[in-house]
Amino acid sequence: MKDIVLSGIRSTGNLHLGNYFGALRNFIKMQDENRCFFFIADLHSLTTHPKSENFHENVKTVLAEYLASGLDPDKSVIFVQSAVPEVSELYTLMNMWSYVGELERTSSFKEKVRKHPDNVNAGLLTYPVLMATDILIHRASKVPVGKDQEQHLEMTRVFARRFNNMYGVEFFPEPTAYNFGTELIKVPGLDGSGKMGKSEGNGIFLADDEKTIRKKVMRAVTDSGPAEPDAPMSEPVRNLFTILEIVSDDDVVRFYKAKYDSGEIRYGELKKQLADDICRITLPIRERIMDIRSNEKYLSETVKNGAEQARESASATLAGVKKIMGFKPFW
Ligand code: TYM
Repeated sequence: MKDIVLSGIRSTGNLHLGNYFGALRNFIKMQDENRCFFFIADLHSLTTHPKSENFHENVKTVLAEYLASGLDPDKSVIFVQSAVPEVSELYTLMNMWSYVGELERTSSFKEKVRKHPDNVNAGLLTYPVLMATDILIHRASKVPVGKDQEQHLEMTRVFARRFNNMYGVEFFPEPTAYNFGTELIKVPGLDGSGKMGKSEGNGIFLADDEKTIRKKVMRAVTDSGPAEPDAPMSEPVRNLFTILEIVSDDDVVRFYKAKYDSGEIRYGELKKQLADDICRITLPIRERIMDIRSNEKYLSETVKNGAEQARESASATLAGVKKIMGFKPFW
């Protein structure tokens, strides 16, 4: 039987290497064999209050970048979250079996409270509920995501199990975060610590041109040179090696590791290699982004068709949930 695979991204900015390698590439590899859903989480993006004049354009940009990266509308259902109103209805229901205490303890919520104490809206608190709704409404079993989403998937399983137990049914499957049987990954930023993010100023975007990529990589934080033999690698350099492992061939990685171990490494050479390998992967995608972004007809047909298919799947689940919960039509 085919697995149901689902993944999504917020429409808050251009796609970066973290999005691509953390989630999108895994998803793309699964399109042939499975029933796949991919969507743009425009409702989730509202937690950060985007300007209304940019809202729609942001969705289009992310959509074009998705398609340029290899998402195929003939193989996958590609849609925009808000075009499937069943999501908002199930979200309302799901809020009744999620608890404020567990939501307040979520790491992503605590981080937002720390970083933006002036905007602790209820949408942020219930962010994991909406995300669980996205997944459960298609009864997905595999969710290709990066390491940062692991806790949200754990919560999705809790919500699914709780509903099943509460009503004595086996209705929702318990989905897992997926990366081909290996660890979920975190692509680090170029600023020495933390993960690559949209708004951290530490990312390489799929839409960046070659000059920008080279400049960003050459400016990446390193250290003053290899430490004593056997001393642990500093975090900024470890991060560069992590990116190298993701974008370069194994023999290239071995070559630079050996140079590092023998104390002969030149960070300038390592960075040049890194920039070459990143460009090899992203520049063809950039070209396709520019073509697809201007093809309004293709973009709108893709999401129109996707929304129809997504609504069909979502409304079947919603009807099932409402029946289990005791809703009955009067007419
Ligand atoms: P978002 O938009 O922050 O990121 C989209 C995907 O990219 C992954 N990602 C990374 N992976 C590795 N290293 C990084 N530095 C990195 N940065 C981002 C994320 O793990 C994610 O897989 N809540 C989600 C969107 C969402 C969703 C869903 C995802 C809403 N509903 C249902 C899956 C299923 C988010 O904010 O992703």
